Amino acid sequence: MRRSKIAGIGKYLPENIVSNKDLTRYMDTSDEWIQERTGIRERRYAHRTGETTTTMAVEASRIAIERAGIQPTDIDFIVFATLSPDYYFPGCGVLLQRAMKMNEIGALDVRNQCSGFIYALSVADQFIKTGMYRNILVVGSEKHSFGLDFSTRGRNVSVIFGDGAGAVVLQPTEKADQGIFSTHLHSDGESAEILAMFNPGTHANHWTPNELASFNKAELGDMFMSHEMIEKAQNFPNMDGPAVFKKAVVKFPEVIMEALAANHLQPKDIDMLIPHQANLRISQFVQQKLGLRDDQVHNNIQQYGNTTAASVPIALCEAWEQGKIKEGNLVCLAAFGSGFTWGSALLRW
Ligand SMILES: CC(C)(COP(=O)(O)OP(=O)(O)OC[C@H]1O[C@@H](n2cnc3c(N)ncnc32)[C@H](O)[C@@H]1OP(=O)(O)O)[C@@H](O)C(=O)NCCC(=O)NCCS
Repeated sequence: MRRSKIAGIGKYLPENIVSNKDLTRYMDTSDEWIQERTGIRERRYAHRTGETTTTMAVEASRIAIERAGIQPTDIDFIVFATLSPDYYFPGCGVLLQRAMKMNEIGALDVRNQCSGFIYALSVADQFIKTGMYRNILVVGSEKHSFGLDFSTRGRNVSVIFGDGAGAVVLQPTEKADQGIFSTHLHSDGESAEILAMFNPGTHANHWTPNELASFNKAELGDMFMSHEMIEKAQNFPNMDGPAVFKKAVVKFPEVIMEALAANHLQPKDIDMLIPHQANLRISQFVQQKLGLRDDQVHNNIQQYGNTTAASVPIALCEAWEQGKIKEGNLVCLAAFGSGFTWGSALLRW
């Protein structure tokens, strides 16, 4: 069966740089606290009205498509990963198709949060392997700055996240030892509420004894989003940071080892590990656990924060642009996040 390769890659980071110090204007936090716990120094925020999750994806996609040496009309399928879509529905895939004037191709939206890009890549990989498509655009893009609680109440979440987009064009490869060797996807919904945004949603407080949403008493409707929910700040993401941390440091190494074992390889064989940029401490823990040198891992959370589905393609693109990934290199992508969901992809560049 044929393999798929990354034929072009692009990234887009909004111009607006927001430092830790900038955030102290809105909440009780400090540069020291944020750097010590997460490694983050600054992040980018999209223009409030001039940029959306999809427009950032367009910028990253243009570069990826150009680097692949093709036109937007050559793309025959879109897989778009995000947790911060322009609309609740329809998804960003169709908005990207429209904005880039692509043909009436399929556009699939993936909702797997921080592991969204790995899931999206895996889906695209299967379509290439079976021969169904030849040029698939795989995108991760997020505009977190629109939906965070910038008061002290939301500081454990809001200091971590940033905006940006990354995209790749996946194509079949003719070379025997090139492309995606395997992808590995996992989930454990037991702790779904540990890192989640509950509202708007149809849960009706069904899953937990805690009241996740305050509904009004209307006989019909009005349960999706109410004034009460907004008044009680139930429209923001929630995170039990330490619980996420504990699970992440187990599952990251596990899924990387799973990818290596499936291909009869070892950590020392990895030329570049691109971990999802959740927290610099998590990446450092994973690096240490696998016994990798600094030059075998690329981190950029210091500059961009956690960009969720965009973090892996942004970091991969940056490492490649900096000459840290060369043809023939073994590259491992790995992610863990809300769901929980996690996954890895092992490929030869
Ligand atoms: C979120 C995270 C940085 C918090 O660090 P932590 O050391 O676990 O901190 P805690 O949540 O236990 O909070 C410690 C204290 O800092 C405070 N705090 C939280 N956010 C703060 C902030 N931005 N600035 C200052 N203080 C803050 C807390 O209120 C708490 O105060 P208390 O001790 O008086 O109650 C860390 O848990 C983490 O990175 N977890 C993983 C999160 C992640 O990766 N999420 C994305 C998944 S893909």
